Amino acid sequence: MSIAAATSLDLTESPTTNGRLSVIQLFNVCKSYGREQRALDGVNLKIPKGDFVYITGPSGAGKSTLLKLFYGGEKPSRGQILVNGMNVTRMGGARIAQLRRRIGIVFQDFKLLSSRTVFENVAFPLEVQGRKRYEISKKVFQVLKHVGLEHALQKTPLALSGGEQQRVAIARALVVDPLVLIADEPTGNLDQEVSLEIMELFRTANARGSTVILATHDRGMISRFPRRQVILEQGRLAGDIDSSGVDRLQEAGVA
Ligand SMILES: Nc1ncnc2c1ncn2[C@@H]1O[C@H](COP(=O)(O)OP(=O)(O)O)[C@@H](O)[C@H]1O
Ligand SMILES: [Mg+2]
Repeated sequence: MSIAAATSLDLTESPTTNGRLSVIQLFNVCKSYGREQRALDGVNLKIPKGDFVYITGPSGAGKSTLLKLFYGGEKPSRGQILVNGMNVTRMGGARIAQLRRRIGIVFQDFKLLSSRTVFENVAFPLEVQGRKRYEISKKVFQVLKHVGLEHALQKTPLALSGGEQQRVAIARALVVDPLVLIADEPTGNLDQEVSLEIMELFRTANARGSTVILATHDRGMISRFPRRQVILEQGRLAGDIDSSGVDRLQEAGVA
């Protein structure tokens, strides 16, 4: 069967992988920025609900672009993207905003508000949701305690170390109990001990039900915490290795 035929079949099929609901599905997705070479080229991908997935590959392979497509930060040039069964490609700004409330994003440069305290940074997504004040305080304290920052509530991000800023960014992503937790190179600039603590937070979030998707080229971390690896090379899917080391892409005869 040709890939095109498989794609059109997939679109009419119910959104499951081995009986598990897919939280993210990509059908022949391409992304170009202007006239540049394609950042993503014909990507087909399913991520089941509750999965823990690494997106790996060399710098420039398209990892960050792929993550942006997942939360509607960029639109694909071609192809379809379903998130939790909804077609992101066709969504307007209001519905994208609604979807993002269910997605926790840890940006590569954290994107913390430097004029606000740690508490205020983490409270922000709940304020956007219009939650009640006491409910916000309770949840923010709970999450900041979980990431080990209960001592830093009233500090501003610039008074914190890199590892602590990363924890604030993770707390802000976790505070909404996200359906999907997305992080771009979360251990890129941290020493190994801090990286391990950060990875533990992602593991716990996954155990509590969030689908976790991490872009990384940290090989050490992947071998320490083996999970599914989606490998990109020059915008193409070059491998899809499950946690026991089997390449499903090769098995399917696509690679
Ligand atoms: N906003 C942008 N404008 C133009 N080109 C971009 C933009 N973002 C990424 N690219 C290009 O797209 C390709 C993939 O980039 P990226 O997704 O950042 O890869 P990675 O995260 O794997 O390093 C690269 O060639 C990069 O230069
Ligand atoms: Mg990147």
